[in-house]
Amino acid sequence: MWLPHSFIALLLAVLANGSPTNTTIDDSSSSFTFTGASGGWNTITPTSPCDICSSNPDPSLVHDGTWHDGNIRSGAGPTTGSFTFQGSAVYIFGIDQAESQPDIAFTLGSIQSVHHYTGTEQFVYNALFFSATGLAADQTYTVNWQFNVADTGVVVQAALFDYAIVTSGEEDSTTTTPAPATTGATGSSQSTTSPAVSKTHSSGSKGQTSGSWVLSPFP
Ligand SMILES: *[C@@H]1O[C@H](CO)[C@@H](O)[C@H](O)[C@H]1NC(C)=O
Repeated sequence: MWLPHSFIALLLAVLANGSPTNTTIDDSSSSFTFTGASGGWNTITPTSPCDICSSNPDPSLVHDGTWHDGNIRSGAGPTTGSFTFQGSAVYIFGIDQAESQPDIAFTLGSIQSVHHYTGTEQFVYNALFFSATGLAADQTYTVNWQFNVADTGVVVQAALFDYAIVTSGEEDSTTTTPAPATTGATGSSQSTTSPAVSKTHSSGSKGQTSGSWVLSPFP
């Protein structure tokens, strides 16, 4: 069968870029780090439940039955963590709770957002803590987070991290990809231009509050 060259070129381009695919990565993956003050994190699995944790969500509603319970008190060292991924979008999910509502500050490069649940439901599963879209699909990124204590007046804060979703492949195949980095003597200022960032803030009817970031590939 004869196919026009343009069709073959398009087909190859689609195969190379791939259509967007979501992958779920559990908090037990080494792509996550949970760091900071000693005792800042408890790792909960079906075989190692947390007897000292004050937050006890239903394990059957938690991804893979595992989560990380992070907490911080005034005067203690920082409680921090990170997630490293390659992809065009990232979504970090946890379990919101009415007690000890934390103030979690996320950073991905120049992107910053704070997640703080203000609702009254005891547990909200699959709560979006952080997201960023419009990233370069072939690059590796790290999202870092830290609990803010000073800003909230809440002296004991706890947050439950559950899983991340990473989108691989271009989100929209009609989007032109950025020009490849030049190796000329003028340096690579073009390739390091930060994408434009806009923030959307949504408040769900259940009082769920989450910040989400939308990046457009052009300034
Ligand atoms: C990937 O997951 C996110 C978050 O749930 C969703 O908004 C997005 O539409 C999904 N993308 C694909 C390609 O399934």
